[in-house]
Amino acid sequence: IKDTYILGIETSCDETAVAIVKNGKEITSNVVASQIESHKRFGGVVPEIASRHHVEQITLVLEEAFQEAGLEWDDIDAIAVTEGPGLVGALLIGVNAAKALAFAKNKPLVGVHHIAGHIYANRLEEEFHFPLLALIVSGGHTELVLMKEHGSYEVIGETRDDAAGEAYDKVARMLQLPYPGGPQIDRLAAEGKLSIDFPRAWLEEDSFDFSFSGLKSAVINKIHNAKQKGETLKPEDVAASFQASVIDVLVTKTVKAALQYNVKQVIVAGGVAANKGLRAELEAKFANMNTPLLIPPLNLCTDNAAMIAAAGTIAFEKGIRSGLDLNANPSLLL
Ligand code: KG4
Ligand code: ZN
Repeated sequence: IKDTYILGIETSCDETAVAIVKNGKEITSNVVASQIESHKRFGGVVPEIASRHHVEQITLVLEEAFQEAGLEWDDIDAIAVTEGPGLVGALLIGVNAAKALAFAKNKPLVGVHHIAGHIYANRLEEEFHFPLLALIVSGGHTELVLMKEHGSYEVIGETRDDAAGEAYDKVARMLQLPYPGGPQIDRLAAEGKLSIDFPRAWLEEDSFDFSFSGLKSAVINKIHNAKQKGETLKPEDVAASFQASVIDVLVTKTVKAALQYNVKQVIVAGGVAANKGLRAELEAKFANMNTPLLIPPLNLCTDNAAMIAAAGTIAFEKGIRSGLDLNANPSLLL
């Protein structure tokens, strides 16, 4: 049978990314132009700046993706693009580029949910086994998703306030660390002591939901109180204690859900999946269980277009198509 090549486009936040994936599993090219340097001095992503960079970068990144793959338009079976959620102005650049290309090159168009992409980043590493539990931890999302088959997503738990990555970025800002804060806290936490007892939001007994805003407030209060009393608070200890609280809740709920739903595989996705402490703790817990755990390599944890092409392949094979009226949807549901 003929191989399927899907071109993926991702512009939902601050990376302009284009990739070509073979048969939903094999990366033939994966180009990411990061804008981190441009947003750093503002301490976070500035939507207007993000959109402008996407416009400047998209055609260059597209060309590079074809070059890296050694492929031509004739080889491409369909175009998959992130339609949401994300920053609307940023999403629009990718969606409109995809629509223009689909029209000009006469290719089918498939809209992809950003989180489905993060989940399918794992399939670039290993085949899925259902039922499967996915822990999605990114700058915008914290979710536990149950999948019984390809392309079907049941959200069994989600954050009621801040996302895990958002909490990392906000705490990093309080510690005057540069954006993005997650990797900075991760690095500091490895050197710190668990000297501060920050709260853990377990919520109701049977709930798989998360909440990180209370933890964030506890960190703010701790820093302010220490300042007022003239105490010195070691940033590495704050980082370590904060991270311990986040990891404790994420890992405990993931293990509980994996057992309750008797899943055959647990996968982790999203930028926070790059966290060394989280990876180590999950690996330690699942090593004692019969459930295989899959965490993608760092470059597939953070935003990229290979994951969008991988998720798009499944949708494409299921016959799902988007029209040229496809629109960016900043609050698209999974
Ligand atoms: O998935 P992603 O690249 O973009 C979104 O879809 O949100 O995730 C970005 C988030 C940021 O909040 C960033 O601080 C966090 O992932 N992050 C980390 C680490 N690397 C990235 N958080 C904790 N530890 C890390 N090593
Ligand atoms: Zn993401």
